[in-house]
Amino acid sequence: MDYFNFREKHLFAEDCSVAELAKQYGTPLYIYSRATLERHWHAFDSAVAEHPHLICYAVKANANLAVLNLLARMGSGFDIVSGGELARVVAAGGDPAKVVFSGVGKTAAEMKMALELGIYCFNVESLAELEQLNDVAAGLSTMAPVSLRINPDVDAGTHPYISTGLKENKFGIAMNDAEAAFTRAMELPYLQVKGVDCHIGSQLTELRPFLDAMDRVLALIDRLGDKGIDIHHLDVGGGLGVTYDDETPPMPNVYASALMEKLQGRDLQLIFEPGRAIAANAGIFVTQVLYLKENAGKNFAIVDGAMNDLIRPALYGAWQKIIPVRQYRSAPKVYDVVGPVCETGDFLGKSRELSIRKGDLLAVRSSGAYGFVMSSNYNTRPRAAEVMVDASSHYVVREREKLPQLWQGEHLLP
Ligand code: LLP
Repeated sequence: MDYFNFREKHLFAEDCSVAELAKQYGTPLYIYSRATLERHWHAFDSAVAEHPHLICYAVKANANLAVLNLLARMGSGFDIVSGGELARVVAAGGDPAKVVFSGVGKTAAEMKMALELGIYCFNVESLAELEQLNDVAAGLSTMAPVSLRINPDVDAGTHPYISTGLKENKFGIAMNDAEAAFTRAMELPYLQVKGVDCHIGSQLTELRPFLDAMDRVLALIDRLGDKGIDIHHLDVGGGLGVTYDDETPPMPNVYASALMEKLQGRDLQLIFEPGRAIAANAGIFVTQVLYLKENAGKNFAIVDGAMNDLIRPALYGAWQKIIPVRQYRSAPKVYDVVGPVCETGDFLGKSRELSIRKGDLLAVRSSGAYGFVMSSNYNTRPRAAEVMVDASSHYVVREREKLPQLWQGEHLLP
């Protein structure tokens, strides 16, 4: 559930009129709802209740400092995939001791930074990375806490670009190699084996793949136990889907209860890395209709937001709901909603039935995750502003970029 609702015929973000926000801050504009973010985080946290757990919000979904700061204030941990994300967490007041570091390509410098800051755990994805981490930790005369990311080879049934748990993906260590990898990790003197980790994909709308992965990972933990390798925590990754259209993903409490049932009688701390489930429906992307035009019988709504602002439709063919910020009764037409970028792939939505006029505002729903973070300056377009509403208050949490910032750091030849 989120806090973007119509009052009369006007869309509100909590108690703020979206049209008023667009007027004040301009478009294209990202708007986030504090109450929604907090609600979603609590849904995870309370679902696991008394069981030892850590909710490590996946920073990649929405890395705005204000978002991270709100979650940090609630006691959230963070799942990061780069030194940059770690620096953001620290800048936002997050606790490094609640950070897990995922990703297949951590550099030695990133490992050093994370060790110096004292993160909770490295989610290691290969034998080569184990050796490197051991070397970096040795150089600092410290122990690196590690969990090995195991690829359980389950089909998450999601888009191939965001499915990560099949054995042919680049992620994790194959299940067949897992025991040998743990044995090696135990031998390396500067590593401290803490956990097992898996993440099978994103936007999963069914429980089955999560439960299958869990069964395989628990069986591995048992085999490791037989070898005297004790596992302290199980990190189940992120991946819980959200409703973009008519999907009905399990609610966090249903998901968490199903996992907890399998953990009965085990003394394992549970770590979640949710990104989308917390942030997606806590944000909208607001854009203004610049022109309506018809080409060969097809209607186009040309808007001021584009693929550089919100790339999910262009990149994955992702469908996100597009609604007018003000509702009219006039007869709708079917439009492709497209941006000003010079590419045919630049669309926010295709074949959408809309009652709109030039100058109207449209809201692209579910844009709080993988929205702004994936934006670029393609076509030398400044990136949009981001605003957070909190009941009837609103704050700029990132200013709209100004043109000179776009070529800052570029140099002419002498
Ligand atoms: N943990 C790991 C190791 C991950 O790779 C990811 C996402 C997450 C957690 C968070 O997953 P979530 O709960 O958000 O599903 N850009 C794509 C999504 C890419 C997800 C990559 N990994 C999109 O716009 O759909």
